[in-house]
Amino acid sequence: MQEISGKTAIVTGAASGIGLGIATALAEEGANVVMADIQKDAVEKAAHALSDTNKRVMPVQIDVTQEQSVVDALAETERSFGKLHIACNNAGVPMHGTELVDVPTDDWAFVAGVNIWGIVFGIRHFVPAILKHGEEGHIVNTASVAGFQNRRGTNQGPYSMSKYAALSLSEALEHELDGTNVGVSVLCPGPIATNIAHGARNRPGHMGGPKAGSSDEAVLAERLATTGLDPMKTGERVVDAIRTNTFYSFVGAVPANVIRARHRRIEDALNSTWVTHY
Ligand SMILES: NC(=O)c1ccc[n+]([C@@H]2O[C@H](COP(=O)([O-])OP(=O)(O)OC[C@H]3O[C@@H](n4cnc5c(N)ncnc54)[C@H](O)[C@@H]3O)[C@@H](O)[C@H]2O)c1
Repeated sequence: MQEISGKTAIVTGAASGIGLGIATALAEEGANVVMADIQKDAVEKAAHALSDTNKRVMPVQIDVTQEQSVVDALAETERSFGKLHIACNNAGVPMHGTELVDVPTDDWAFVAGVNIWGIVFGIRHFVPAILKHGEEGHIVNTASVAGFQNRRGTNQGPYSMSKYAALSLSEALEHELDGTNVGVSVLCPGPIATNIAHGARNRPGHMGGPKAGSSDEAVLAERLATTGLDPMKTGERVVDAIRTNTFYSFVGAVPANVIRARHRRIEDALNSTWVTHY
């Protein structure tokens, strides 16, 4: 059972939604929490609200699409709190409502930049920082139930692609960290009541800057606001996943039958005379 109290954690995307839920839950468990987000004012405000309740939190501005920004945030973390133990690569943006053939090239770069490269840079820099001191640690990458299936009719192919990547990176990282005292979890939320529908509000300047979202933004926002789980619950889920070293960490409403049907289809395809086994 991994102890959280007294450890130092960094959470990306901590100004809002799931990241704020994770930061809050970790701080409540007694961790020092670096709240990292591209929204400087919002993350400062969120950290201020938490430190008012005697939590040890520190806001840091980060753009996870830029490697140097990740390196700088890590340096600030180590300057303030010493060793890093827990890294939650959580920042993410949506990409819904447009068919693949119509998605502009720079939108592909945006969703891949935040949702995939953000995790890659977290792995490149946070993981060695955790391993170097030899104390227990944990990595949590935020994927989604969209990392297990492409739901018909949602036109969220680019988003789903990025979440399959988050899942695959997490599985590969778990293999590579076998035999160490650093665990890996992949957080797989169903719908959560956050601000994700308005994710284009935080588009980095070097990726074209903030944009008005697609017309489906309002539909997604409405769906999440009415049916989504409280993001604070996902924070509690993450605390439990770290403590119990749970890899696939689902939370909320999961389209289990759609995922099972996909898996069955793959299994059926493996029963083919074209397939040899190794
Ligand atoms: N809300 C859901 O239903 C849901 C479901 C499954 C997975 N997720 C995933 O959860 C994660 C968090 O999303 P959320 O729902 O809390 O959304 P949110 O928009 O409420 O929060 C995302 C946070 O990430 C920050 N961010 C965006 N780009 C960034 C960048 N380049 N660098 C640093 N920070 C950046 C934003 O400023 C924001 O504070 C994402 O990876 C998302 O894909 C969300």
